[in-house]
Amino acid sequence: MKKIALAVSALCLSVSGVAAADDPIAVRKSIMQATAASAGLAGAMMKEELAYNPAIAKAAILTLNAGAKSYGAFFPEGSGEGDTTAAPAIWEDAAGFQAALDKYMTDTAAALDAAGKDGPADLASFQAAIGPVFSNCKSCHEKFRVQNN
Ligand code: HEC
Repeated sequence: MKKIALAVSALCLSVSGVAAADDPIAVRKSIMQATAASAGLAGAMMKEELAYNPAIAKAAILTLNAGAKSYGAFFPEGSGEGDTTAAPAIWEDAAGFQAALDKYMTDTAAALDAAGKDGPADLASFQAAIGPVFSNCKSCHEKFRVQNN
């Protein structure tokens, strides 16, 4: 239970970080940190380090979907400079970046649909719902993120 509480408060912290920030680099990093926290929570349940809980599973999927839907708004022209790992390809291949965002939105929306009202009933259905979401992380980062960490 303590682990769950910690993970959930980490999510809330990331989200309040978003609300407080008014620079697009800080906002998009906070969204990715909330994304990573949810992915970590999902991964811990899939590895059975954390007991499977449908409500937590749904919260993780909701956070991923909310991040996917809002993320594209924080890449204004000129925000490729500074404390960021966003790759120039985001602006040079704007259509390609939009396509990656669209796929991520589609996959997280499908996971949300599959989660139903109360979250996926068991670990197997959670894995089936969220599995396709995870391929997006690597494929988008490979093209659109400078790998400096
Ligand atoms: C559509 C593209 C895209 C998808 C999908 C995506 N990311 Fe990212 N991610 C980025 C970009 C671009 C950055 C760099 C943002 C910056 O530094 O301005 C980033 C940065 C990050 C960071 C570093 C944040 C920081 O504090 O600097 C983490 C962690 C991360 N992503 C995790 C994930 C995980 C986990 C997933 C999948 C569940 C994911 N990302 C899916 C584009 C994406």
